[in-house]
Amino acid sequence: MRFRGPGEPFDATVDVPGDKSLSHRALILAAMARGTSQAAHLGPGRDVAATIGAVRALGAMVDGPAITSSGVEAWHQPPHDIDAANSATTMRLLAGALAGRPFTTTIRGDASLMRRPMGRLVAPLAALGASVAVSPNGTPPVVVTGGILRGAHITLPVPSAQVRTATALAALQAGGITTISSPEGYRDHTERWLGHLGLGAWLPDGRFEVRPGPVPPLDVALPGDSSSAAFLWVSAAIIPGARVTTPRVSLNPGRVGLLDTLAAMGAQVDVVVTGEVLGDPVGDVAVCGVALIGIELAGVGTLRALDELPALAVAAAHADSPSTVAGAEELRAKESNRIATIVAMIRALGGSAEEAQDGFVVRPRALTGGIVRSGGDHRIAMAAAVAATRGAAVTVEGFDATGVSWPEFAGALEAMWSSR
Ligand code: S3P
Repeated sequence: MRFRGPGEPFDATVDVPGDKSLSHRALILAAMARGTSQAAHLGPGRDVAATIGAVRALGAMVDGPAITSSGVEAWHQPPHDIDAANSATTMRLLAGALAGRPFTTTIRGDASLMRRPMGRLVAPLAALGASVAVSPNGTPPVVVTGGILRGAHITLPVPSAQVRTATALAALQAGGITTISSPEGYRDHTERWLGHLGLGAWLPDGRFEVRPGPVPPLDVALPGDSSSAAFLWVSAAIIPGARVTTPRVSLNPGRVGLLDTLAAMGAQVDVVVTGEVLGDPVGDVAVCGVALIGIELAGVGTLRALDELPALAVAAAHADSPSTVAGAEELRAKESNRIATIVAMIRALGGSAEEAQDGFVVRPRALTGGIVRSGGDHRIAMAAAVAATRGAAVTVEGFDATGVSWPEFAGALEAMWSSR
């Protein structure tokens, strides 16, 4: 796929697709509930489709926004291995939900997912009483043999929302209370939703307590995906005078690090919280481009922007001073080794970037264009397309990867560029 951006300001309002993180949660919780749930504005990509396929295989019916289930107790052993495709969220969240089911399920994925770390699921789900097997090097397939679970006090070594959620989905089916703690820096969608549904609460010491009980049917209208909107925000941020507004996107505090970072780089960022979905904030975001300055990102600041770092690297290339990202080692365990693929992308486009063990440095140098290989990673493909904003010619090989989160991304980006 080839891109050449406008090289001049645009002004657009873009509705982005439904939030992927929340879509997985809504589908699995609805499949655990007894009755019919409504989840409007589910994400359109292949990752969410993988979760739809999985909950159908377990016995739920998904018909547009309506999800009907006889409840988690009625889930049956799927007739085949579950295919999570490219979606680690599908694999990890389902492993948790299956931990309370008295049968064995094997979950596999595509070549990228089969390389990703799943060992982190084993200890928390075993502490609750399930048996989870992964391959000797900690990668899939994930084989879950569930059963009768007990509550436990679980401390996770990684600030992973997926592992926290897997643990919580299992704990909902346990015979007693479970507490979960982990380092900071994760998105707390699940905790907010469970709290709102009366199935959990934060304790004063920072642990989250899961209170087992039946999940009620949901009725949610999911917000737009802020991680998808991120590409549009960066495209506007790198053209002085350009502006994009994305109405009603997810504003979970664990997800908005890119907005804080763009603001710190000098971009004009306006955020208006307009409501919430089961206790999780949503709102409108407008980003306006100005001359950007470089940024140093580390610690929780990095974690709150982790999925958006491919886009941020493109913004950093257009800043007037170097930008450094540290504390991002987890990027090596994403859909690609994203520290390597971000640096390769910037260099392939004529920019200057270097790898560090736990992050990267981008130095200011115009991205003049070139050929970028996505490495099968949707966020690299989209970031590379955004790098064409200032008029560079960018060819993205493997652009089809964008279909896991936003199949219509190319059209939306080009429509935004041509809006005046
Ligand atoms: C996600 C959590 C994050 C994030 C991923 C989606 C989720 O992963 O990077 O894209 O929906 O819970 P980790 O849980 O591995 O940090």
